[in-house]
Formats: sequence, C-alpha cells, structure tokens
Amino acid sequence: MAKQKTTVGTINNETLAYTAGRDVELDHALITVDCIGTAAHVTMLSKMPVEPKLITDEERGQVIAGLVEIIGLAQQDQFKIELADQDVHLAVERTLTKKLGDLGKKIHTCRSRNDQVAVDLRLYAKEQLLQTLEEAAELAAALTDFGKKHEKVPMVGRTHMQPGMPSSVGLWATAHAESLLDDCVALVNAYEMNDQCPLGSAASYGVPLPIDRQLTSDLLGFSRPTHNVLYANNGRGKMENVVLTAMCQVMLTLSRLAQDLMIFTMPEFDYFQLPAEFCTGSSIMPQKQNPDVCELMRAKASRVKAAELGIYDLIKGSPTGYNRDLQEAKELFMEGIATTRSSLRIMAPMIQDTKVNEQKLIDGFTPDVFATDRALELVGEGMPFRDAYHYIKENLHELENIDPTEAILLKTHMGAPLGLDWDYFGDRIDAVRDTVGEERRAFNEAVSELLGVTYPVES
Ligand code: ARG
Repeated sequence: MAKQKTTVGTINNETLAYTAGRDVELDHALITVDCIGTAAHVTMLSKMPVEPKLITDEERGQVIAGLVEIIGLAQQDQFKIELADQDVHLAVERTLTKKLGDLGKKIHTCRSRNDQVAVDLRLYAKEQLLQTLEEAAELAAALTDFGKKHEKVPMVGRTHMQPGMPSSVGLWATAHAESLLDDCVALVNAYEMNDQCPLGSAASYGVPLPIDRQLTSDLLGFSRPTHNVLYANNGRGKMENVVLTAMCQVMLTLSRLAQDLMIFTMPEFDYFQLPAEFCTGSSIMPQKQNPDVCELMRAKASRVKAAELGIYDLIKGSPTGYNRDLQEAKELFMEGIATTRSSLRIMAPMIQDTKVNEQKLIDGFTPDVFATDRALELVGEGMPFRDAYHYIKENLHELENIDPTEAILLKTHMGAPLGLDWDYFGDRIDAVRDTVGEERRAFNEAVSELLGVTYPVES
C-alpha cells in the first residue's frame, strides 16, 4: 500500500487520510491563530533563562516575520495545508522550515500539537464569541426598536396558546430581546471560562525545562494561564462544550421567536408580515410566501444542540490525557458556532422589516380577553378577588368589548406593556457592546505588540 513521508514519519496513505480527517479543510480557520500562538511560544523561548539560548532575539524576529507572512497568505486564501501535513500545526512548521532552515525545526521545542491545538481553539473561540455577542446585541437592538415602535399596539396575550389577557406588540418583542440579553450572559460566562492559556502543557505533562507559562499567556492577551498541565488537555472538548451550551441558549431564543413569527404570520392571524425577500416561494403553488427562514432556524436549533451533545458524548468517556477522539469535536464546534451566528445575522434585518398589521391585532380581541381585567376592576370596588373571579366566570356574557388600546394603558408597573423601561434594554445592549469593544481592543493590542505589526493585519 502506498505511503507518504511526512514531518513526523512515513505513514500509509489510507491511515493518513483517515487520521487527518477533515482537519486539512477545517484547520484553515485556525491558520492565523496558530501563527499567533507560535509567535508567543517562540518569544517565550527566546526569553528563557538558559545558556546557550534556545532561540536568539534575532531568530525570534525571523520566525515572527515568517509567521506574519503566513497570516498574510491565509487572509488571501493562499496558504495550503497538505494531507502530508495532517493539520495546520505541521503545515506551519513545514513552511517555516522551508524558509528558515534549521530555525524552523526549533519552533516546536517544549510544546506538543496537543497544547498547540488547545490554544488555537481557545483563540478561535475567543474571536467567535465576541462576534456572536456583537451579533446578538444587534438582534436585541432590532427587537427593542421594533417593540418601542409598536409599544402601544395591542396584542392578545396568550397562555396555552389560548387568548388570555390584553398585551402589546412591545411586550412580545422585548420578551425575546430580554431572553437574548440573558443568553449574552451565558456567552460572556463561556468567554471568561475560555479566556485561559493552555500553552506549555505540551503533550499533557509539562516539560523538564523552565518555560514561563505566565509570559506566554500575557503575550497572547489571555486573562490567565490554565494551571494544571494535565487539565489543560482534559479541558479540550469541555471548553467547546461550554461554548456550545451558550450557543444553544441563543438558538433556543431564536427558535421560539421563529415559531412565534410562523404562527403570527399565518393568514388566520395575519398579525405580522415578514419581508418578502426573507420568504421563499413554491415551485408549484404560485401564491406561496413561505417562512422557510423561521422553519430552518427551528431545525438548526436542534442541530446546534446535537453538536453540543455530540461533543459531550465524545469526551464523557475520554480517559485522562490527550486522546485523538478530541479531533472529532472540531467540526461540531465550528459548525455549531457558524450556525448560531448566521441565524442571528439573518434574524436582525428580518425583524427590522417585519410589518405589523395593527387592525388585525385589534380585531383579535374578543370580550373574554378582558375577563381578568374586569375581575380586578371589581376588586377595586371592594370585592375579594376569588368572588370577583367566580362572578366573571359565571357572567362572561356581560363582558363588553373594551378598547384594547385603552386596556393596555392601565398596565404601567415595571415590565408590563406600558411599564417597559427602554433604558433597561438600551443599557444592557450597550454593556454587551462595551464588553466586546474592550476585549477586542485588548486582544488586538497584545497581538500587535507580539507580532510587531498592526493586528488585524491588513490584507
Ligand atoms: N489535529 C489534532 C487534533 O485536532 C492535533 C493534535 C494531534 N496530536 C496528536 N497527539 N496526534 O487533535
């Protein structure tokens, strides 16, 4: 059977393809972070208090120049990962060795691909979480604007899907906005857990040389290094799982919002109308305007959950130390994040241009919707609530069609249709955006300092 010479030995072709799996494609998303991780590692090596120096300052400069070149190539989609490389890590080492000779062969001193991929995925997760937070804030803002615009538009409030009490479009929209803002808390928690540098753990057990893990962590702008080197590897998969758990919360909010939109745009309701360019037609029924985006969002919520469960299942029986099984988590992780982000990105403009049919919303009110309001009116006149409740239950026919627009004006306490605090939503959205801005600035500063060029590198 055919074999191939690789950086780490001669490997049978089938074995190479089987073990590299989809890394050869997926690792393209990790080229830049892999280079950044290597720049930090090499910088730390150049500062190690050993004689002779493992890497001189000048050599560090050469390696970093080579890494910046690779980042530039990656941005133009010009950096290739070959099957014989197996993954991005060995592709970068091969490229540097080709360019720098023996110096390229030194970069892997005191590290393993195990801690290398762990740091790559943490840097990747960092950026992805910031983008997700930014996109979630955008949708929360769109929902809040939509709610504010339709603050006084009455809407039948439902429980068990049955008409319940007078409500408003503003209340409906901002319920989803607040849910999304809580999802941002989950995303920030995942961000904080992820914000630890695993480099220096090497294969899982550290190295017998005085590496400075704190320095590597600082150079990369992490808040701290992970501590126990064995946990640094055991933490792979767990980190991805925690991130996807937060993504699942976002998808849960999106799926329920999508479900509402599907119901309220049915002609039988006709409360809302989705923008035509966000709907698709039928190949046989000429009149159709289908809410496919909403249906797919509901389905994709299941897929992100499946990715989260898939990773959980991959690691729950994983013995301590690195196991190659972890590689299989990469695709699930990347797909789960990408799906969540594209869902957020499509929902924001769709909500923005969704039309509200005020007359249909008002027409949806039947007298029974005012039953509870009327009972509470009787309470105001001195009747105990349970008596008022039974009185109304027996005399539903007496209920008159009160003006729903007037009815919601009476609901003014905190968080009620006319008690929505717009600053509350604005402040929470701003807080998310501020966190993203600060974290991104700090990271870009650290990496610019490390590479000696402005990061993100302009292509
Ligand atoms: N592509 C591998 C992964 O994702 C990199 C680490 C390989 N480590 C090893 N010991 N074979 O896990």
